[in-house]
Amino acid sequence: KRSVILGCGSYLPARILSNDELAKSVDTTDEWIVQRTGIRERHIAAPGELTSDLATHAARSALAHAHVEADTIDLIILATATPDQTFPATAVTVQNNLGISQGVAFDLQAVCSGFVFALSVADSMLKAGAHKRALVIGAETFSRILDWTDRTTCVLFGDGAGAVVMELQDQPGTNADRGLLTAHLRSDGKHRSKLYVDGGPSSTQTVGHLRMEGREVFKHAVAMITDVIEDAFAATGTTAADIDWFVPHQANKRIIDGSAHKLGISPEKVVLTVDRHGNTSAASIPLALADAIADRRIKRGNLILLEAMGGGFTWGSALLRW
Ligand code: ACO
Repeated sequence: KRSVILGCGSYLPARILSNDELAKSVDTTDEWIVQRTGIRERHIAAPGELTSDLATHAARSALAHAHVEADTIDLIILATATPDQTFPATAVTVQNNLGISQGVAFDLQAVCSGFVFALSVADSMLKAGAHKRALVIGAETFSRILDWTDRTTCVLFGDGAGAVVMELQDQPGTNADRGLLTAHLRSDGKHRSKLYVDGGPSSTQTVGHLRMEGREVFKHAVAMITDVIEDAFAATGTTAADIDWFVPHQANKRIIDGSAHKLGISPEKVVLTVDRHGNTSAASIPLALADAIADRRIKRGNLILLEAMGGGFTWGSALLRW
């Protein structure tokens, strides 16, 4: 049996913030941002629009795409580093918004790697047999934790949400080889001070702002990403040539290009949204997946490689047959 993705959906807040508009409030330029990151614009949640609202929209869109009713869901895992509140988990708000009162709902915190971590945890829980159908969501409102006076970080991030519906299916017949083939997760806390938020309930009793040693993150990113992808290749006997679509976490075009190049994945197989979305942390992979499904690039039977790396550091890869 394998965990098969039945549908995928996403949601972006209406407001678009361009580089030129940002350059009016901080000392930066469109040229600098595009050249260093590939980012041209990002979406920003409206005042009062919460992570749970973004997540609920994305979840509804994924349920519609999967042609399943909300009341068939008995597991909701919401990957986020920007929850509505310290507690309860934002996942239970989404559960309530969807009118679901069965099963379990909880948040998972692995920053930008959150979606890959959540996919892997959902897969394990489905295989353990206690749950039948899962909603795996990545949703973030990073605009709420940015220091809008710090040009080295505020230009990089955006808000958004993406979700998938997943269930365990038998493999024989037409389903052969569909589903999540393998997932590999890693973390190493010795890097925790390279990318962090300088607040929290236990430390400062404030929400805090994102702080990052960008050059340090950059330095480690490509090696960590390619390493954990090599694990996925080794576990499945797959090579870069077998991959139909590479759907990476969208932090920086240079990191994505560098990883694809090192792995030997050709540029036309890379799904890119960082230009339009910025870095939406845990939401970026399902947002990119939904994009490539909506415009019919991703087709049934395609082999799709996901990867992410983020604060912690945490990093991971997943390989799935669509
Ligand atoms: N506009 C103009 N100039 C800027 C800006 C800006 N927005 N930001 C920084 N600069 C300046 C710096 O002050 C520096 O000036 P100096 O030379 O006078 O000191 C110069 O540009 C170069 O700065 P660097 O930090 O060396 O620039 P770099 O080429 O490394 O690019 C960047 C910075 C884009 C942040 C890059 O390091 C990067 O992408 N790092 C990875 C970040 C990342 O992906 N983080 C997300 C991880 S996922 C997660 O978990 C959230």
